[in-house]
Amino acid sequence: MDGNELKIKGPQRMQGELLVQGSKNAALPILAATLLGDGIFILHHCPRISDVEHMLELLTDAGCQTYWEGHMLIVDTRNFHNHCVFGYGAGKMRSTVTLLGSILGRMRQVEIPYPGGCTIGKRPIDLHLKGLEQLGAVFVHQEHTLKGSTEKLHGANVYLDFPSVGATENVMLAAVLAEGTTTIHGVAMEPEISALASFLREMGAKIKGDGTPVIVIEGVEKLRAAEYIIPSDRIVAGTYLFGTLMTRGEVRLLHVPVAHLGGIPRMLEKMGAEVKMEKDWICVKMERQCRPIPYIVTAPFPGFPTDLQSVLMAALVTASGMSFIEEKIFEARFQTAQELRKMGAVITCEESFALLEGNAKLCGAQVEAKELRGGAALIMAALAAEGDTCIRGMEYVQRGYEDINGDLKKLGIVL
Ligand code: UD1
Repeated sequence: MDGNELKIKGPQRMQGELLVQGSKNAALPILAATLLGDGIFILHHCPRISDVEHMLELLTDAGCQTYWEGHMLIVDTRNFHNHCVFGYGAGKMRSTVTLLGSILGRMRQVEIPYPGGCTIGKRPIDLHLKGLEQLGAVFVHQEHTLKGSTEKLHGANVYLDFPSVGATENVMLAAVLAEGTTTIHGVAMEPEISALASFLREMGAKIKGDGTPVIVIEGVEKLRAAEYIIPSDRIVAGTYLFGTLMTRGEVRLLHVPVAHLGGIPRMLEKMGAEVKMEKDWICVKMERQCRPIPYIVTAPFPGFPTDLQSVLMAALVTASGMSFIEEKIFEARFQTAQELRKMGAVITCEESFALLEGNAKLCGAQVEAKELRGGAALIMAALAAEGDTCIRGMEYVQRGYEDINGDLKKLGIVL
């Protein structure tokens, strides 16, 4: 097997127990936050995925040292001195942008290449910049890099026009060391925001209101190093839960903060699955054809996550009737539809709407992942499909899934 492709013979049933990996979207801003304190940080349950490796290259570029011991990551920021990060990973990853807030907060100047990431839409950074400007930062747009500086960051009232996850994180990262109080209105309420807030509090920051629409931060002079356990990845958990539903399997996921799943367990039930859960595990069993969902719209947390929209789509094409999805967060997130069609799905997309006919008998095909979550959806579809599927573009999937082949094997899949 070529490292960039995965071959699956279907149909296969997902069955078994799995400990879910640490969260990508929690780990990345937390790594950016380490630059705000001087010392040795210890992060447990950190996912060993390519996006994290790229972020570590950037921290190394900035003067830090990093080591892995299994899933424990040690970050030594005592030699952090460089406000310009141009490492190989910088332009590849959307989260490079969260370094704006933390490097500005600590060094009062920053220079980064324009952020990359998945090709799922325009993904501007205007809200990040506007928020940081309100705290006293000034930005200069250069041909390939973005340069920011400030004499001193100060507290302010920041209003976000949309609850952007990244913009909320960036303003939080800049505000913790700013002088005075910052109140951020209209923030994202995703669980990763609370993870970042908890981590910053461990470092000595004064933050209140995470998990609500208004966050209040009282700036402190200095932050210290901290030890923290990264929460498990709710999107990886969701991928395998929908995969279980599609393959009529039975899976128990362990070490899952079930509260982070929002409405997903309810959605699985509506689609016909049997769901049992406690605070930190969830068990799903499916024995019938999936039921359709007449209308579902992606929305900021606690709404249905855009990151699971492709895998939901893959599940619903096989449902016993028609479903309708509206994608409200990222305009280019229906790229997976084209690949699912090659496997027999009947999907009509127009702008941000997708109409799924249902009753598709999925069959193996040559398909290509165009982005991270879409790639995972194709893998789940391949498990449910009759015959051989070859999924190319696995490098996208590796951005967020530490060892999807290993996970699938633990869940009884033969690869
Ligand atoms: C984060 C997640 C990503 C998830 C997304 C939405 C990380 C590393 N990535 O991405 O997996 O899909 O949240 O839950 O945590 N927008 C603007 N201007 C801005 C910023 C955002 O218009 O300055 C728009 C975006 O184009 C998009 C929407 O706001 O339409 C949501 O984006 P945002 O919440 O910022 O997502 P990310 O932080 O990029």
